[in-house]
Amino acid sequence: MYPADNTKEAVDYKAVQGQHVTAVVRNILVLGSGGREHALAWKLAQGEGAKVFIAPGNAGTAEVGTNVNIKVGDFEGIKQFCLTNGITLVVVGPEQPLVDGIVDYFKADEQLRAIRIIGPDERGAQLEGSKAFAKEFMANNGIPTARCLTVNKANLNDGVAFLKSLKAPYVLKADGLAAGKGVLILDSLDEAIDELGNMLGGKFGDASATVVIEEFLSGIECSVFVLTDGEHYVLLPEAKDYKRIGDGDKGLNTGGMGAVSPVPFCSPEFLQKVEDRIVKPTLNGLKKEKIDYKGFIFLGLMNCGGDPYVIEYNVRMGDPETEAVMTRIEGDFADLLYACADGCIDKVHYAKSAKTAVTVMLVSGGYPEAYQKGKVMTGMDQLKDCVAFHAGTGFNADGQVITAGGRVIAVTAHGNSIMEAREKAYQNVEKIKFEGENHRHDIGLDLV
Ligand code: AMP
Ligand code: GLY
Repeated sequence: MYPADNTKEAVDYKAVQGQHVTAVVRNILVLGSGGREHALAWKLAQGEGAKVFIAPGNAGTAEVGTNVNIKVGDFEGIKQFCLTNGITLVVVGPEQPLVDGIVDYFKADEQLRAIRIIGPDERGAQLEGSKAFAKEFMANNGIPTARCLTVNKANLNDGVAFLKSLKAPYVLKADGLAAGKGVLILDSLDEAIDELGNMLGGKFGDASATVVIEEFLSGIECSVFVLTDGEHYVLLPEAKDYKRIGDGDKGLNTGGMGAVSPVPFCSPEFLQKVEDRIVKPTLNGLKKEKIDYKGFIFLGLMNCGGDPYVIEYNVRMGDPETEAVMTRIEGDFADLLYACADGCIDKVHYAKSAKTAVTVMLVSGGYPEAYQKGKVMTGMDQLKDCVAFHAGTGFNADGQVITAGGRVIAVTAHGNSIMEAREKAYQNVEKIKFEGENHRHDIGLDLV
């Protein structure tokens, strides 16, 4: 039941580690530069003895830790930084370094082996890095998901036949990572057949050399986050993400325009089904395949009439869900992550706030298509009773905070209800100004 180990005595993980004998010192490196990484760094920085570094970070992460000018793909640079700064925990924000094998790189290096790193190895990261792998994994482990067929140029005809056997709309997914753009949902069969050809012909480069055709599932989506040490797990607070650019879920898909946590339809009964039908079989499947997985598993779920189906696995936290979720975790989150890496997450008790968090993302005009950067932001000093996580910001030559991405800033507020949290979040959103600013006005409204 959720929370996973409600009945256990709280354990002081620092005492378990003998860290109280000396002062607790925790040098932590967070990799990434978005709102998710600001939220992770913000939460970790509140822990005892924590000194947080963020590579490369943004203007917001600079307020909670030290930004380090190293790219997430520069494994050698990360190694040198870890060794010279006594880093004892690395938290990998985005999926790309995981898919590229950063965990394997740490495990294979004698000097780095002792450093804890949160995330799966390259094989485990295939749960996100290859949709075909994920679908096969689910099939092998009896995990509920949409019916599908994996196709490439060699079995294109089977793909067309499978499409003809399905009802509209049609779901086509590029096998590999495609910067969140690799899923097409099409209303007509002709269009779907055309796009299947385009995808296999390189529409998303190598990522769509293989395509997964899926049955369309109707229901309501939610994101459930698992933190596992390979043996035990905890469910972090769940969230709902708003992916479309416009109010009423209209317009183009984005990285995410807002989030709400908790999600009212994720009842204890529903979450129990998620644990029994998805989380446990997933962890057993990983063990069966001898994948040592210490990190986050983000389950993108569809609630179809009260039953959960997996839409996708991600091997990292969600963005902007993390900006809501982190604000609801109580206590020292680093305790949980150190224990996760040490394989004893069951020794740590964690609690979550009963409050509701609503997160609203402010984006640059034009996003998710072309948009401008470098716009000066004002009003940040006027914010009250909320946290503003920077998603895409930087500094100009005068040291002013400027926009530096499509998604710019995520404002999270708490309340006793979605309406109360919404009101506080939007009061603050209105205070932040930059040229071309855009946001959704209806975050959470569908849930009340
Ligand atoms: P994914 O990248 O797999 O999360 O897909 C992106 C989005 O497409 C999801 O968040 C869903 O909204 C939608 N989607 C993906 N697969 C399906 C499906 N089988 N049925 C309905 N919607 C889907
Ligand atoms: N918010 C969806 C994601 O992070 O993939």
